[in-house]
Amino acid sequence: MKRQQVGIEALAIAVPRRYVDLAELARARGVDPAKYTSGLGAREMAVYDPGEDTVALAASAVSRLLRTHQVDASRIGMLVVGTETGVDHSKPVASHVQGLLKLPRTMRVYDTQHACYGGTAGLMAAAEWIASGAAAGRSAVVVCSDIARYGLNTAGEPTQGAGAVALLVSEQPDLLALDVGLNGSCSMDVYDFWRPLGRREAVVDGHYSIQCYLEALSGAYRGWRERALAHEVVRWGSTTPGEQLARILYHVPFCKMARKAHTQLRLCDLEDAPNAANTTAEAREELAKSSASYEAQVASSLSLNARVGNVYTASLYLALAGLLHAESGTLAGQRLGLLSYGSGCASEFFSGVVGAQAAQRMARTDVEAVMARRERVSVEEYERLMKLPGDGPEVLAPAPGEFRLAEIRDHKRHYVEGAAS
Ligand code: HMG
Repeated sequence: MKRQQVGIEALAIAVPRRYVDLAELARARGVDPAKYTSGLGAREMAVYDPGEDTVALAASAVSRLLRTHQVDASRIGMLVVGTETGVDHSKPVASHVQGLLKLPRTMRVYDTQHACYGGTAGLMAAAEWIASGAAAGRSAVVVCSDIARYGLNTAGEPTQGAGAVALLVSEQPDLLALDVGLNGSCSMDVYDFWRPLGRREAVVDGHYSIQCYLEALSGAYRGWRERALAHEVVRWGSTTPGEQLARILYHVPFCKMARKAHTQLRLCDLEDAPNAANTTAEAREELAKSSASYEAQVASSLSLNARVGNVYTASLYLALAGLLHAESGTLAGQRLGLLSYGSGCASEFFSGVVGAQAAQRMARTDVEAVMARRERVSVEEYERLMKLPGDGPEVLAPAPGEFRLAEIRDHKRHYVEGAAS
């Protein structure tokens, strides 16, 4: 493992200005509200309109990141957008972001795509670029931006959402110093979730996608654990390797998935433990489901995900924002585990240590203010917005420092920025 520090220095989020209450949506669909709120673990879901596309959300998040953390753009040598809901088959979202924010020409600019894993692919490219020395002291901005859309009256409907998280990646990882070199990966060629060219809505084999996620998690976690044990970052002892992580963050398509994922991770440890033969499979399954472990290691990272819904590439990093917003003070110096999953499929388990400056950084990251500005809309209004054509944005003024798609003219997208207040 390289000794040089590299990781996430700061972050910022952007979410659509509107949301719908999921208990109200359940009632409108004739479903018991407990299925959405308890069965899926969701409270609210972001509602976007065509003006809040992947570019607008990404640019708004980067604008907030640069502004609130006073980042000098000349130190950025790489801009990567991870997305699976880009707006063009050729021109990357990252180029739009570069142009809208008038970022210097002297940087590498591109998108990364692999369903929800695309953002992590970008983060690892940036971190390894810096760790290798090729960045020569420069930093990277990695943005995860997506619109999760399944359509009205589908099983996936309550698991939609939208938003973006921008990460500043550098040699000064105030938020999270990554354990470069420990990552475990697992990928398979499966049809669990996909979006054929030309379609706005994803196609999904929902229950199979959950199985794929859990299988990929097992492979990725075991890969990380093997290297973490070899480097004595964790060890088998009175606690399992997974229990030695202060918190574990998962890709969150819906909050209940994080609970299923945590049970699976614990099962990997309980099955592989040197003393596993002393317990029965039933006893291990029961132990793996421990609510105490879920509450201690996972629950506190889900507050933002429960209010925004699935944000595909950004879901894991929204969980990180939620966790550090709530607990950065007490977590300084402690190690987190993170599991990224993208359908199709690819997964990666990695870890990092929360920085001593994390609380100060998060105090400047106005997460609560961004969430508080949202307005609740009725189910009827949500349905109206969902039915708007993708190229027909409403004429609405963006909030100060945020961006909106204004129109598409001659196949070119035109964006407007909210005037400073
Ligand atoms: P469904 O079939 O409508 O729901 O679809 P269900 O019948 O499985 O019920 C869901 C849960 O609610 C169950 O809990 C029920 O027991 C419970 P579980 O057994 O799973 O613990 N339930 C209730 N609880 C309380 N009171 C009640 C009640 N009724 C039922 N009255 C599904 C659910 C998630 C499949 C659907 O929403 C879907 O297809 N979503 C989209 C796919 C998805 O999110 N997959 C996740 C894994 S793949 C992934 O994460 C990648 C992804 O982000 C995309 C990418 O990578 O790009 C999706």
